[in-house]
Amino acid sequence: VTLHHSSGHAPVYVEAGLLPRLPALAAHHLPRRKLAVIADDRVARVITIPLDVPILTFPAGEASKNRATWSQLTDQLIALGFGRDSAIVAIGGGVTGDLAGFVAATYLRGVPVLQVPTSLLAMIDASVGGKTAVDTASGKNMVGAYHQPVAVVIDPLLLQSLSEADFRSGLAEAVKHGALLDGAHFSWLSSLVPPILARDPKTMEALIRRSVALKAAIVERDETETGCRVLLNAGHTIAHALEAVTDYTLSHGEAVSIGLVVETALGERLGITTRQSATLVGDLLKQFGLPTTIPRSVSMDRLIELMRSDKKNRAGAVRVALMARIGEPAGNDERGWTTEVGERDLRATAEAYRGT
Ligand SMILES: NC(=O)c1ccc[n+]([C@@H]2O[C@H](COP(=O)([O-])OP(=O)(O)OC[C@H]3O[C@@H](n4cnc5c(N)ncnc54)[C@H](O)[C@@H]3O)[C@@H](O)[C@H]2O)c1
Ligand SMILES: [Zn+2]
Repeated sequence: VTLHHSSGHAPVYVEAGLLPRLPALAAHHLPRRKLAVIADDRVARVITIPLDVPILTFPAGEASKNRATWSQLTDQLIALGFGRDSAIVAIGGGVTGDLAGFVAATYLRGVPVLQVPTSLLAMIDASVGGKTAVDTASGKNMVGAYHQPVAVVIDPLLLQSLSEADFRSGLAEAVKHGALLDGAHFSWLSSLVPPILARDPKTMEALIRRSVALKAAIVERDETETGCRVLLNAGHTIAHALEAVTDYTLSHGEAVSIGLVVETALGERLGITTRQSATLVGDLLKQFGLPTTIPRSVSMDRLIELMRSDKKNRAGAVRVALMARIGEPAGNDERGWTTEVGERDLRATAEAYRGT
């Protein structure tokens, strides 16, 4: 069942129908440990958790990913008398993975965590790489730690109950992985739109395996985020600004979808990306029901201002991870992984991708 196990990071199990084997996997990876499950209230209601251990819950949603919830969860562990021989099983979307991972990273200076991602975004993105965090009033993921899970257990059957919006949101990251890192995967996605949208278990199993392998390969090469890991930020410079400017009425996946198309078009304009790439990327995203244009209501000045203040950019210059062609990043070790873009090019490209 193990799909990916190499030095430096946790084994990732991906198999449709795997959840019932969670007790055996937990016993194997967390031997003799006292377990607590952390899940949001929605996941705890929808998914039958096959472990006979305390289940600590919190209200579903990003608003719970904060230090207050972290306090409540750690207080509950203390009240349960959990000691250094304990471990956390995080079952849920990216919010749960980040929050429960941060609880595990900090409880008694760190106890092991096993991640059971249940949203598509968590399966292909958040559960790989060991980042954990909570949000603060001044921004997302402001307080956190790196804490690698002992294992990641993914059951694509769990996607059946995920909302349509959350499912499509996750697909934006899958397209990102293909577009930047693997042309064959991009073509594979394009050829299997109907079974993907139907969440066919075997198709989703293959999609998740490939995305996990692509992300894991990058994270392994660059665990500390000084080099090629910025490639995973493709589409996200514009996406983060779009999320902020729309007051988070655009979901992360929708913003990433628009960001991917506009950043690809920017690459074409700069002569870095082969022509028609933005059209190809946009066509696939549209087939997945994702938006590819910037809403009319968005102020271009504000959008650009937000991009310049993105914490990933140095000194007000906007830098983006571009592709040379579908499946191949433009940046490399010698040239740097990202390209600095001027405000005029940014503005002209963004204007060309205004919605109606
Ligand atoms: N650590 C990382 O590397 C990393 C990477 C990307 C994103 N993230 C974080 O992930 C978070 C977003 O993750 P998300 O989109 O999964 O949000 P989420 O955890 O809030 O899940 C979205 C919704 O889906 C529900 N849900 C999850 N699985 C379900 C299932 N199988 N059936 C029915 N409902 C289900 C949840 O209850 C929630 O209401 C953000 O906080 C983001 O910062 C972290
Ligand atoms: Zn993302």
